[in-house]
Amino acid sequence: MSADCPCEISPCQGPLCDWRLWERGVAFRLMDRALPDILSAYPTAGLLQRIMIRHRPDICPPWRFYEHIPQGASVLDVGCGMGSHLITLAALDRISSGHGVDVSSRAIDQAALAAKSYPRSNLTFEVMRSIDSVPKNKFDVVIMIDVMHHVPKDRRESTFFGCVERVKSGGIFIYKDMADRPSFNAFANRMHDLVIAGEWVRYLPLETALEWGSAAGLQLVRRAEYKKLFYAHELLVFRS
Ligand SMILES: C[S@@+](CC[C@H](N)C(=O)[O-])C[C@H]1O[C@@H](n2cnc3c(N)ncnc32)[C@H](O)[C@@H]1O
Repeated sequence: MSADCPCEISPCQGPLCDWRLWERGVAFRLMDRALPDILSAYPTAGLLQRIMIRHRPDICPPWRFYEHIPQGASVLDVGCGMGSHLITLAALDRISSGHGVDVSSRAIDQAALAAKSYPRSNLTFEVMRSIDSVPKNKFDVVIMIDVMHHVPKDRRESTFFGCVERVKSGGIFIYKDMADRPSFNAFANRMHDLVIAGEWVRYLPLETALEWGSAAGLQLVRRAEYKKLFYAHELLVFRS
């Protein structure tokens, strides 16, 4: 049992301990309800985009990964979409700078416009063609949230290792994706992506991401699997 954990399990799994995750789950539910309203930073967003910005935290609760972003960190968000994570983190005054990249120029246009509402947070956004086109700067934290199942299979490994390459020594890589099981939840998310992105997605097995993390010499700090509404999520937090 670790000193700061109320569980009586020996040996306690530390940050991976079920008890701590349950306690955190309760705290997260409260924090997710208290997120800043960032919608006003997106004055030109269409109806579907506005719905996504407002309700994304309801299907993808963010504090489970925000808690691993230290105060004042520099953050690279790979597959940032409309930049809602970096914009939210800026609104929370949690980061010193953020750079978001995505293959969608439409999404990046919205993110760049939203960044103007948070000039103090040094937010920049750019369109990426592949991970190779992303500047090789190092960041305290690199996040890749719900992106891998959209990446073509032959580019997944290079994208994963490209993210790792951009993490400072001692920094954090947060990898989250939709789970390929249970099959009902995987199917529900496939239908979601078919409607929203017009794409029949293929998931990367979590074991593969774990193997790549280990091959890259990363230390696993947290592994979590959880559900929200019809959606099943997988989260890995690595330290470089
Ligand atoms: C479900 S959205 C997630 C957006 C954001 N990360 C979030 O959590 O709100 C998936 C994003 O991945 C982007 N994407 C798709 N293929 C990609 C690729 N090969 N490389 C980087 N991003 C990609 C899409 O344009 C989209 O913005």
